[in-house]
Amino acid sequence: MTDTTFTPRVFSGIKPSGGLTLGNYLGAIKRFVGMQGQMETIYCVVDMHAITVWQDPKELANMTREVAAGYLAAGLDPSQSILFNQSQVAAHAELGWIFNCVARVGWMNRMTQFKDKAGSNAEKVSLGLYAYPSLMAADILLYHATHVPVGEDQKQHVELTRDIAAKFNHDYKTDFFPMTTPVIEGPAMRIMNLRDGTKKMSKSGESDMERINMTDDADKIAKKFKKAKTDPEPLPETVEGLADRPEARNLVEIYAALDDTTPEAVIAQYPGAGWGTFKPALADLAVAKLAPISEEMARLMDDPAEIDRILAVGSDKARAIAEPILKKTYDIVGLLRSS
Ligand code: AMP
Ligand code: TRP
Repeated sequence: MTDTTFTPRVFSGIKPSGGLTLGNYLGAIKRFVGMQGQMETIYCVVDMHAITVWQDPKELANMTREVAAGYLAAGLDPSQSILFNQSQVAAHAELGWIFNCVARVGWMNRMTQFKDKAGSNAEKVSLGLYAYPSLMAADILLYHATHVPVGEDQKQHVELTRDIAAKFNHDYKTDFFPMTTPVIEGPAMRIMNLRDGTKKMSKSGESDMERINMTDDADKIAKKFKKAKTDPEPLPETVEGLADRPEARNLVEIYAALDDTTPEAVIAQYPGAGWGTFKPALADLAVAKLAPISEEMARLMDDPAEIDRILAVGSDKARAIAEPILKKTYDIVGLLRSS
């Protein structure tokens, strides 16, 4: 259900906590680009989320620029979308605190990503990691965003954002915050690890062979797909035949997402194909789609001052939307302002 009383506005973000992966590209960035021009779009490099786990300070600044370079290289245009990094807009942290006082501990305890990340070590992780979904709600609601394109793993956090908005609106007898819709669609909602089709492809997995990085060159991409784990069976004749074959399904879904088509169409193109045929075709397709992006990222990274300039301009634009919404929130809550 979309809230019709708010102007359609997209917000999404990626953490600069390691290099961008094919999962980030297909599950997020490519879709960010698809929404550009259709409504107002705001895309953030969420550096304050990254520090919920330890980040080397120099590396954090570098990764922040790299995610921004990924946005730009993939086709986000600073004249059409607001591109910025979260820490330059202080209102995120301020609204995040208010939402810490709205969200309930019981809600946070249900967050599966926290449980997965904290594992048996829950006593030792940062308080920030636990509170993270409430900062994410602030990111979104600070712009009254109505649509949030994310991968499947973020669905629960966007639902929590709706719970926080609803509780705030209820407790303060207002309709100030919208009910945000998560936009989770297409074949790439959950790109899996190339060595284990039951695990998500992520920035932080142990082996580099389990993920495609957006900065990998053609040889690396080809090698990683060639070595990707599969079962011994060839591709099925119909898409139903992928049901209990996570690795095979993942490769078909990656192909479909890269080629802007559906898994059904991919199977129709390669019915019963062996891996010796399909893997090289997938590698060629991935190289054709990713190489221009990684080349452009490298070019942009050679001029960090230009990236910083783009993020500064975007931060000014973001602040212009965020600050009035934060001020109004302070008024609603009864936090005294002298100006
Ligand atoms: P993160 O890298 O965790 O900040 O994720 C940024 C965005 O990329 C989020 O919208 C995630 O849902 C999406 N994403 C990350 N990994 C994957 C994946 N393996 N498959 C699909 N989407 C992903
Ligand atoms: N939590 C998201 C992730 O790990 C990143 C994120 C932070 C985000 N704030 C957001 C995504 C706001 C969408 C909207 O992937």
